Amino acid sequence: MIAISGLHMVYPGSRGRHAVPALQGVDLEVADGEFVSVVGPSGCGKSTLLHLVAGFEFPTKGSIEVHGRPIDGPAADRAVVFQQAALYPWLNVAENIGFGLKIHGVRGAEYVRRVNDYLAIMGLEAFRSHAPYELSGGMRQRVAIARALITQPETMLMDEPFGALDAQTRNEMQRFLLRLWRTLRPTVLFVTHDVEEAILLGDRVVVMTARPGRVALDVAVPFARPREWDLVLTPKFVEVKRRVLEVLRPQLESAEHLERLMAGIEGDRDDSP
Ligand SMILES: Nc1ncnc2c1ncn2[C@@H]1O[C@H](COP(=O)(O)OP(=O)(O)OP(=O)(O)O)[C@@H](O)[C@H]1O
Ligand SMILES: [Mg+2]
Repeated sequence: MIAISGLHMVYPGSRGRHAVPALQGVDLEVADGEFVSVVGPSGCGKSTLLHLVAGFEFPTKGSIEVHGRPIDGPAADRAVVFQQAALYPWLNVAENIGFGLKIHGVRGAEYVRRVNDYLAIMGLEAFRSHAPYELSGGMRQRVAIARALITQPETMLMDEPFGALDAQTRNEMQRFLLRLWRTLRPTVLFVTHDVEEAILLGDRVVVMTARPGRVALDVAVPFARPREWDLVLTPKFVEVKRRVLEVLRPQLESAEHLERLMAGIEGDRDDSP
């Protein structure tokens, strides 16, 4: 359904800085309804990849096709959930969730029914009139996910959506996301720093190299669903985790090395007259 081929992305240098090659030759195919987790060192271009698929930015080279058609900008069939839930502060919970429906011209009884459905699914009925600042981080993220899913997009692009949450809330959100996914079956590209999360949630785990990012490993997750949470304790899970870490660890190290190198270069430049 999503076909990414030979994708390059170079951010032009500004204010005397070097141009940054963020992605260099990413090839990736995602099937309809598939859940693909993406891990990789910080700065390797994971967010860039999602932004390109979302249509927020355009590649320097290469192509991204959805159902065989090149992406020409953002569209309602591709919803994005960011690490920090970006809710509209002037709208309450119900209005935030219903925002996309209004844009799509859904009004009246149908609008009320769907917003109420999602408030119920998300366990947010008691908070429908609350403002975003009155919510916990987990609740805010649930509102953001509800707002993304209510228009039933084909694709969900999730950029470390649970990264800012504590371990327990994160665990609840993972179960919750899987329940939703199994019902609605969107195609998911899910970026995370957490290898266990990547394996627990995904049909596949894609490991990216240090910047400029490419696909270093693409491994199928061999566990049936629904998955129990003690799966992480089984030898088979540990085996998959080891395979991922064997490829990821050296990339983390080389990313650190690159950061130090870049800091040195930038430092030299700042010192120059
Ligand atoms: N708008 C931009 N302009 C210039 N450079 C950018 C821009 N966005 C990202 N970059 C650079 O591109 C590289 C990849 O960034 P990106 O945000 O995609 O990494 P990431 O893998 O999502 O990292 P993290 O795990 O820390 O979120 C980084 O070096 C970053 O500085
Ligand atoms: Mg990122």
